[in-house]
Amino acid sequence: MNILEALKTTDHQLPEKYKTMSVEEMENRVREIKQKFGEKLFIPGHHYQKDEVIQFADATGDSLQLAQESAANTLAEYIVFCGVHFMAETADILTTPEQVVILPDMRAGCSMADMADIHQTQRAWEKLMNLFGDTILPLTYVNSTAAIKAFCGSYGGATVTSSNATSMVAWAFTQKERILFLPDQHLGRNTAFDLGVPLDQMAIWDPIKDVLEYDGNIEDVKVILWKGHCSVHENFTVQNIATVRAEKPDMNIIVHPECSREVVALSDYAGSTKYIIDTIEKAEAGSKWAIGTEMNLVKRIISNHPDKEIISLNPHMCPCLTMNRIDLPHLLWSLETLEAGEVKNQIKVEKSIADNAILALNRMLERPN
Ligand code: 13P
Ligand code: SF4
Repeated sequence: MNILEALKTTDHQLPEKYKTMSVEEMENRVREIKQKFGEKLFIPGHHYQKDEVIQFADATGDSLQLAQESAANTLAEYIVFCGVHFMAETADILTTPEQVVILPDMRAGCSMADMADIHQTQRAWEKLMNLFGDTILPLTYVNSTAAIKAFCGSYGGATVTSSNATSMVAWAFTQKERILFLPDQHLGRNTAFDLGVPLDQMAIWDPIKDVLEYDGNIEDVKVILWKGHCSVHENFTVQNIATVRAEKPDMNIIVHPECSREVVALSDYAGSTKYIIDTIEKAEAGSKWAIGTEMNLVKRIISNHPDKEIISLNPHMCPCLTMNRIDLPHLLWSLETLEAGEVKNQIKVEKSIADNAILALNRMLERPN
């Protein structure tokens, strides 16, 4: 049964009773079950998760930290992953076969990860090999399916996160003359640009049209960017920056590198979710910040720093819809199911895929950031 068929079965739908329980009742039950399971249960939570969920996380972090936490945790029998599908897959790959990884809502995917499927990637690779020969190393952002990670692992490539993209892209250039960067063109472009690759040496691979978009001499291409993007971060625009600069000239602008090149270039700082949190943490009281990243995190940063003036770079920004699918009722449902001795919504990566994906993940985890 594939994921779409699975979602149609009632097995993956939240039972009615969770729609009528009070918040207090749900929170008490989560606490009770967490206490009962103790170290056998581990709940990682990505920074973009809602507060109602993050309050119960045993570890919070960005994609890199959560991958490291998952790899380090050998005690937990059950890992209830509060994040999106590709993160739960990564956790499954990095844990032992006996550890069970659960995603509280199977609909919590990532639209960026969905922009590169393995068949498109294999087709692209064949064409790129014909164009450039064996000169390319594939790198994938962790925001990708396990199959894409396995593809990169089997061709000597690696995964990257927004925290370590610079060191991983620099490493990739010690291995091969060119890189293929999937699936986020913006993180790929921003990182390569920071490392000194000019924009006119970057081509775009269009997986829908199956063509390479490039105007110059093909021999000059250093980076091939997959034409994917984050539907949340693409909503921060040059116009948003112009508005903040005009209305509040003393405000610092800090954005996630999933934003476009133009937005990153006009901002004062750019980095992963952890980098954004740490930068604002260290900033002086009274300092002013406009943040370009997901709204659940921006709201949390605002409430954690009443001594600073903080706004969203885009005042009309929404949270990431798929991250938001993990909510208190789904978390409780997962935990009560485990308490009843059942497992639902398990994320299990096929062994043949996991064996190659772990090569790509380990090449990243073994390197200093
Ligand atoms: P990081 O956790 O690497 O900052 O990435 C943000 C993101 O979009 C996760 O989906
Ligand atoms: Fe995917 Fe963007 Fe949501 Fe992250 S914020 S999970 S990249 S859609």
